[in-house]
Formats: sequence, C-alpha cells, structure tokens
Amino acid sequence: MTTMLAVTVPEWGGPEVLTPDRIERPEPGVTEILVRVHAAGVNPVDWKTRNSGGLIAWAETPIIGWDVSGTVEAVGPGVTLFQPGDEVFGMPHFPGQAGGYAEFVAAPARQFVGKPAEISHIEAAALPLAALTAWQGLVDTAKLQAGQRVLIHAAAGGVGHLAVQIAKAHGAYVIGTARADNHEFLRGLGADEVIDYTTTDFSEAVGDVDIVLDGIGGDYGTRSLRVLRPGGHLVTLPTPDDVPPADQSGDIHTGWTVVEPDRHGLLAIANLVAAGELRPTIDTVLPLTDAAKAHAYGENGRTRGKIVLQIV
Ligand SMILES: NC(=O)c1ccc[n+]([C@@H]2O[C@H](COP(=O)([O-])OP(=O)(O)OC[C@H]3O[C@@H](n4cnc5c(N)ncnc54)[C@H](OP(=O)(O)O)[C@@H]3O)[C@@H](O)[C@H]2O)c1
Repeated sequence: MTTMLAVTVPEWGGPEVLTPDRIERPEPGVTEILVRVHAAGVNPVDWKTRNSGGLIAWAETPIIGWDVSGTVEAVGPGVTLFQPGDEVFGMPHFPGQAGGYAEFVAAPARQFVGKPAEISHIEAAALPLAALTAWQGLVDTAKLQAGQRVLIHAAAGGVGHLAVQIAKAHGAYVIGTARADNHEFLRGLGADEVIDYTTTDFSEAVGDVDIVLDGIGGDYGTRSLRVLRPGGHLVTLPTPDDVPPADQSGDIHTGWTVVEPDRHGLLAIANLVAAGELRPTIDTVLPLTDAAKAHAYGENGRTRGKIVLQIV
C-alpha cells in the first residue's frame, strides 16, 4: 500500500481532533486526476464540519478541506484536459467527501482548472471556495451589472475581500462592513465606502443598494432588507436560518446560496487573476500538521483574507 500524510478527523469536536496521520494514497478513477497537493485553503465550513459534521449530513468523513492547489501526478482513464505535471487548482468534491488536508487528492478532472502563472500555490489554494462563493452569489444569482450598488458584509474576510474585487471588476459601486482596522485594506482593494459596524448601524448609513452579500447572518439579513431597492437581491451565506422570513422581504429576492464546484466560474476567476483584477490576501500560512492551530485562529472570526495550509 502506498501511503500519504493527511490530517484526519476521527471524531467531531474542537481543533484538537485534527490528527496528522498516514493513510492510503487515493488512485484516480475514470475521468479523475490525482493531484499532489501543495497548499490547501482553510474555510469556516472546515471547522463547522469538524465540530459537528456541519450543515451537510454525511455518514462519515475522515478528511476535511476542499480548497486545493497542486500538480497533476497521474490521470485516470478518459481524462483529456490535463496531463501529469500540469499545475491546477479547484474545489474538489464540495460538499461531499473532502480530501484537501492531504498530500494527494483524487477527484473529477473538471472540478479543476489550470493555476494562473501569476499566483503561487499558496495564493491559488486561497481562492476556489471563497471566490466561487462570491462569483456565484454576485454574478450567477444576483446578476450583478456595472453601475450597481453592492453591500458586502464581512468584507475583510475570505469571501468578502474577494467579493469586493469581483464586484469592482464588474464596475459596481462597493460598500463594505468591517472594523476600522480593516478600512484601509478594503479601500486598497477598491471599496468605495466602508462602514465600521462596531460604531455605525449600516442600515441607517446606506440605501438604494442593488445587492447585499451577507456573510454574517443573524439580524444582518433583516436589517439588510431596509437598505435594498425593490427588485434587489439579498444573498445569504451562513445558514438557511439567516434568510429573513418571506413575509418581511416584499419585493426583494432572498435566499441561501451554497457554493458548487464550477469549472466555468473557476475559469472566470483565473481570468480575473491573470488580468490583475483579483488577488487573494493571505493572512496566515501554516504547515499541514498545524491544521489545529489554523482552525483555532480562524474560529476567532478576525481573519483578514485567507488562512492556507502548506503541504510541500
Ligand atoms: N453558503 C456557502 O456556500 C458559503 C461559502 C463560503 C462561506 N460561507 C459562510 O460565510 C461566512 C463568511 O465566510 P468567510 O470565509 O468570509 O469567513 P471569515 O474569513 O472567517 O470571515 C472573517 C471576517 O469576518 C469579519 N466580521 C466578523 N464579524 C463581523 C461583523 N459583525 N460585521 C462585518 N464583518 C465581520 C471580520 O472582519 P472584522 O475584523 O473587520 O470584523 C473578518 O475579516 C461564514 O459563515 C461561512 O461559513 C458560506
């Protein structure tokens, strides 16, 4: 048996359940590629899943982590898009059995695209889940158009800081909520207005908004309804319970969106990177074996940009 290093989750619980282990290396099946993982992005869904199995009911999963950047090691039968040696990034298997926190992952070839040469594997691993969430929410769901006013909550976080850049690349007017410490950072990414949510109620500070991307939940959803124009979109990310009740939403389109593997969206993201319009900010890089530290840090909810695990 050929083995590999992986961080497994033998039982649901706190960061301490994350266990560096040697397990069997996967083989690529029909239409799959085997990727040697150089870096794996860390997302809130990782610790939500580690805690309780997360929002998605699985029978059991030994490995978490869906953001991957690496090199194609081998291709399974029927793969025509890639060959060994290609550098790729993607969000394989989401929301099913993951495989990111490991030296190798085998997954459908079409859940990956070529890594843009302009960014490192660390940067590429920071992108798929968060950038696809922003892209699918703003572009596919809310049909973002140039000139529209977009309000992004948790603008300094993993999804938010990429959403700011994606919205600016589409010619939108972008408003973000963040602590004052993050305002200069967000202006540097192109945000037109920033609101310090610790001192100012955003629902009294802005109006006439076309799209709200809500990465906070709780009462942010209901308060966001007050700032949206008739026909506007409220895209809710944390949980379905964070979507305001239908009888409050009037003319506003509301709903919980869940990110999906999406070759089309990933290509668009790679093109924005190549054009210099999108770049992830890396808050922290830790070795794979320090996954528990990465989770403990991320769960504080103060990450600016992304946390990434380095593998080789
Ligand atoms: N449905 C889906 O498919 C999907 C996909 C991705 C993410 N999500 C969910 O979306 C949420 C955000 O994800 P993420 O990856 O962006 O998280 P994250 O990177 O952990 O977010 C951290 C950021 O949240 C900001 N923040 C915390 N409280 C805030 C508040 N009250 N108002 C404004 N900003 C606040 C912090 O900025 P400050 O320091 O400035 O407060 C920090 O920069 C999570 O609940 C995640 O599970 C859902």
